[in-house]
Amino acid sequence: MRVEPQQGGGWREAVAGLRGAFEFEWGGRQYLNVEDYRQAARRKLPAGPWAYVDGAAEDMLSAAANRDAYRRWDLRPRVLAGHGERDLGVRVAGESLATPILLAPTGLTGLAHWQGEAGAARAAESAGTRLVLSSAASYSIEEVAAATERSHFFQLYPWRDRELMASLIERAGTAGYVAMMVTVDVPVPSNRELEQRQGMGIPPVLTPRRLLDGARRPRWWYAFLKHQRVSLRNLGGEYGVRFGVRGAQRQLGLWRPDLGWDDLAWLRERWPGPMFVKGVLDPEDARRCLEIGAEGVVVSNHGGRQLDGAPATLDVLPAIAEVAAGRGQVLFDGGIRRGSDAIKALCLGADAVMIGRPAVYGLAARGERGVAEVLGLLTDEIERNLVLMGCPSVAALDRSWVSRRDLEPSL
Ligand code: FNR
Ligand code: LAC
Repeated sequence: MRVEPQQGGGWREAVAGLRGAFEFEWGGRQYLNVEDYRQAARRKLPAGPWAYVDGAAEDMLSAAANRDAYRRWDLRPRVLAGHGERDLGVRVAGESLATPILLAPTGLTGLAHWQGEAGAARAAESAGTRLVLSSAASYSIEEVAAATERSHFFQLYPWRDRELMASLIERAGTAGYVAMMVTVDVPVPSNRELEQRQGMGIPPVLTPRRLLDGARRPRWWYAFLKHQRVSLRNLGGEYGVRFGVRGAQRQLGLWRPDLGWDDLAWLRERWPGPMFVKGVLDPEDARRCLEIGAEGVVVSNHGGRQLDGAPATLDVLPAIAEVAAGRGQVLFDGGIRRGSDAIKALCLGADAVMIGRPAVYGLAARGERGVAEVLGLLTDEIERNLVLMGCPSVAALDRSWVSRRDLEPSL
């Protein structure tokens, strides 16, 4: 049957035919994945804050290893599974979360955007999850509690002495934080050459080049000067502006290289709620944490920002999950940039995962809204991949849904 082309009809009919065939937008950036937010953050931040957010320790081997580890695992889809609905929910420290992603503690997040941890916590709530507020935050324990509806988690640096730690713990309890995460992989600050090259410290060292670099980001400087969200607000204004962890070491004398298991036992006695120990990379350490009474551990190498040469977190996760099975929860972070990365960690024993840099990228790019968008796109990637895998829920994920590419090629 020949189809005769439409005869006659002028430009009006042509336009009518096109209407609905296209949409039009005025340019603008597309934010399709975490890397898009990272590039936007890179454009918006002066070199110093960017070095702080995106950098890592020394040669950044452990930060890279975190990312490489995901490539060693394949997902194992099953077809015709017939699951119409997917359940992404998890419970962490007794809290029901709508997504298996929490916001990792990130200090001085106000350097990325003046809304800082308060904006990030509100974004976490809107996504049905929680933020872990850093001791080194640019919004205080009380400010974040006042800015949010839900109870979040508090990350304690076991700083300086038991008097300071006890005061932070008491404040977190009074403000309604439901769980405490004790970070144990920072007995001393690491060697962060990228930050040093950008003069990050107390005070920051400005040079003509750094001033010029900053001058090209007037919006950032305006917010920096107007809101001043770059001090350790949990330690009061007397601690001033802290840019680099090296500065804290010199200026604040906070760090505890002598920290021992007795300190963790002491913290366990003082905190009535769930306690997690963050920065565990060894199964025996995990066992000791649980024996002391921690409800869980966080398998983390601080995003490669501490000991450079520490193993990739995904590589040590299975052995730690085996020790913790039936005894405590396992949280996980390091290099998660895709929903598939989170799924692999959940298959290998994590009860939930945390994101550090991706949330800070979102904050730097678009404030609170950017953090909510990053959480949303990663959650969507998890849900879509569960459908593609034929898996009904996060809870159903286990070792059978992944295979080690180099060890199990036949699967
Ligand atoms: C961190 N991290 C961190 N951890 C912690 O226990 N207390 C803290 O104050 C901070 N501060 C901090 C600042 C910034 C800018 C980053 C990027 C990270 C480490 C963080 O909690 C988490 O372990 C890693 O960031 C996870 O790796 P990814 O997701 O960044 O690859
Ligand atoms: C860092 C400290 C704040 O990683 O934990 O920068």
